[in-house]
Amino acid sequence: MRLVVNKVSVETGPQAPEMTLLRFLREQRRLTGTKEGCASGDCGACTVMVVEQGPDGPISRTVNSCICPLGSVAGQEVVTVEGLASDGELHPVQEAMVNCHGSQCGFCTPGFVMSLASLHSEQAALLEADDGERRHRILDAISGNLCRCTGYRPIVEAGFQALKKPAQLANIVQEQGEGAPFASNETASEAGNGYYRPATEEALQQCLRDQPTARLIAGGTDLMLEATQLYRTFDVLIDLNAIGSLKQVSVTSEHIAVGAAVTYTELERTLGARCSELMQMLNRLGSRQIRNRGTVGGNIGNASPIADMPPYLLVLEAELIIRNSRGKERRERLIDFYRGYKQTTLGAGEYLAEVVFDRAAFEEPLKLIKLSKRYEDDISAVMGAFRWRADGSLAIAYGGMAATPKRALETEALLNRSIWQREGELDQVVLDLACEQLAREFTPMTDVRASADYRMAMAGTLLRKACRALVAERVGKATEPGVFSHA
Ligand SMILES: Cc1cc2nc3c(=O)[nH]c(=O)nc-3n(C[C@H](O)[C@H](O)[C@H](O)COP(=O)(O)OP(=O)(O)OC[C@H]3O[C@@H](n4cnc5c(N)ncnc54)[C@H](O)[C@@H]3O)c2cc1C
Ligand code: FES
Ligand code: FES
Repeated sequence: MRLVVNKVSVETGPQAPEMTLLRFLREQRRLTGTKEGCASGDCGACTVMVVEQGPDGPISRTVNSCICPLGSVAGQEVVTVEGLASDGELHPVQEAMVNCHGSQCGFCTPGFVMSLASLHSEQAALLEADDGERRHRILDAISGNLCRCTGYRPIVEAGFQALKKPAQLANIVQEQGEGAPFASNETASEAGNGYYRPATEEALQQCLRDQPTARLIAGGTDLMLEATQLYRTFDVLIDLNAIGSLKQVSVTSEHIAVGAAVTYTELERTLGARCSELMQMLNRLGSRQIRNRGTVGGNIGNASPIADMPPYLLVLEAELIIRNSRGKERRERLIDFYRGYKQTTLGAGEYLAEVVFDRAAFEEPLKLIKLSKRYEDDISAVMGAFRWRADGSLAIAYGGMAATPKRALETEALLNRSIWQREGELDQVVLDLACEQLAREFTPMTDVRASADYRMAMAGTLLRKACRALVAERVGKATEPGVFSHA
């Protein structure tokens, strides 16, 4: 396969399907400015930019190259820290990092520089932004980068300083026409290395028929950890990222459909902009690098009990559109999809195509509350989702409280049988009973993130907090922010 690295077209030759972009850059291109810290997407030392052509020019996205399969950037352009300085001049972000003393041991520095340089490529759009908005964008850009010696203040300051200088993305990417990376339809499968990147669902279905043992990969932010942490190899990977029909969000007056390969960054832009609770939750799902790659389908398909989207989708009473290698389609309620810990109803040759829910449900009052040890880039200890339907009944779901993400159906029934709120007041007795019911309905486990007792206590606290906020919203009182962190 071919790709462009720092303006140079590169032919990779055959590679193992699990070859990461980081290993390729460091070991085969000798671009050792990009560092390996954790090899699990957590520290950001390996951050690079992937540049794609958008309707108004090139668009840059940061990725954790340690968990990004090389095959997924076939035909695309990658910029590493070595590619930033041009014509002997430091990039404005590099210059600002020097001026603000933003680096000490320097191990994290290339990652921070790449995150800020990617943000800097949007400098023109941020010209009108006030300091609050700029600060928010800087913190968002570096939310997946850890520094253990400098401290973040000088790095944030460097971000502010750099944003005063004009963007220069065009200087660091290949001009179109020179090898035309953007026009390429090349798939890694052409290198015959077991990494397939079909461009349509028909081609995907053909791949699934030809390669019945293949694993599906979307962002790889879960799957690639098997390679980097457990040292697994894959015979065949089928990448879903080039399939346009799986990457669409469609909103009609009746329904909303989200393609399985829609990334969180895209979801922020489309649905997040229409629902502040969803946006706040997405802002805390992984980091910018993770949100640029991780997908909704991957979050449902991995069947993790602590995945953040399923509780939300469960209270929306979402349905899944599932297709198979013969193009046959079935529809299943998300609530019926999970069979047990990391088990789903997906059969051989099946894949998630879309998740669909009612638009009316999407627009009803909602609270999403995520509890994690760290505000950013941390997996939930408990995630609660609460939707107040138009008829006054509640839909409740939790992550982190059972072997799968789960609706609290019995607690809902108890609450919805009672008049649990009067105008502006909550019936505390009913809420106490509901919390006792939660304890009968869920058996959380103890792990590194939280003890079972803590999880149980917090599930009740989240329920009370959500009910308080929903009632206050209905009577027009100010509410506390829905999403908070608990150390
Ligand atoms: C540093 C870090 C932070 C994270 N933080 C969070 C967090 O805060 N909240 C959270 O919920 N998750 C988090 N995650 C987990 C992960 O990012 C998400 O679960 C993400 O949505 C996975 O999507 P993906 O596209 O990367 O999945 P992949 O890794 O590509 O796939 C995951 C699994 O789903 C399967 N799959 C993918 N797409 C489909 C499909 N269309 N049909 C059928 N099966 C499919 C794959 O075969 C694989 O088994 C984090 C991960 C990392 C590394
Ligand atoms: S090496 Fe830590 S995120 Fe990639
Ligand atoms: S400068 Fe040492 S880890 Fe950031």
